Amino acid sequence: MIRLHPLPYDFKALEPYISEKTIRFHYGKHQAGYVKTTNNLINQTEMENMDLKNLIVTAASDTVLTKLFNNSAQVWNHQFYWNSLTSDLEKRSISNELKNIIDRDFGSINNCLNQIIEVGINQFGSGWVWLTSEKGTLKITSTTNAQTPITQYSIKPLLCIDVWEHAYYLDYQNNRKEYLTQIVNNLLNWNFASQNINN
Ligand code: FE2
Repeated sequence: MIRLHPLPYDFKALEPYISEKTIRFHYGKHQAGYVKTTNNLINQTEMENMDLKNLIVTAASDTVLTKLFNNSAQVWNHQFYWNSLTSDLEKRSISNELKNIIDRDFGSINNCLNQIIEVGINQFGSGWVWLTSEKGTLKITSTTNAQTPITQYSIKPLLCIDVWEHAYYLDYQNNRKEYLTQIVNNLLNWNFASQNINN
């Protein structure tokens, strides 16, 4: 069985950029719902003791398991999303090591941040924006619905942003650009990105 990991901060920690109300719904209803459905699907099957990543990779390889893939991948993506955000100034600062890699691959931090916003705006419908490392090169990509880069071993996710409407509608209505802009400017956990790049 898998579990709903605790949030890495309290429900008000990301205000004013993401409200307590949004997080209570997003974490307490949406993510908790994905955990519950995943557990219902694996209960009393040979998959019930698999860890979350193995479950996702197994489900991704079999179209009969699409519902399990969607729900389990959403659990992992949301855990990664919460860890990608912080209001802690120390965690938000970019290490020199990471800054140099960003400068090398995007030209500047600003180009990198603008590209995150652009890719997020251009993801049609629900999905995720990712900063990843692919064989040592940083890239910004998006995935649709529950799709996740962890099904590809050559790709290391560093940060992600949820661009499903449930992530921002209460705070920004349909203004996804403003939601992305506020996150990029105020909430990205670059310390988490550095940990992931060195994993
Ligand atoms: Fe979400």
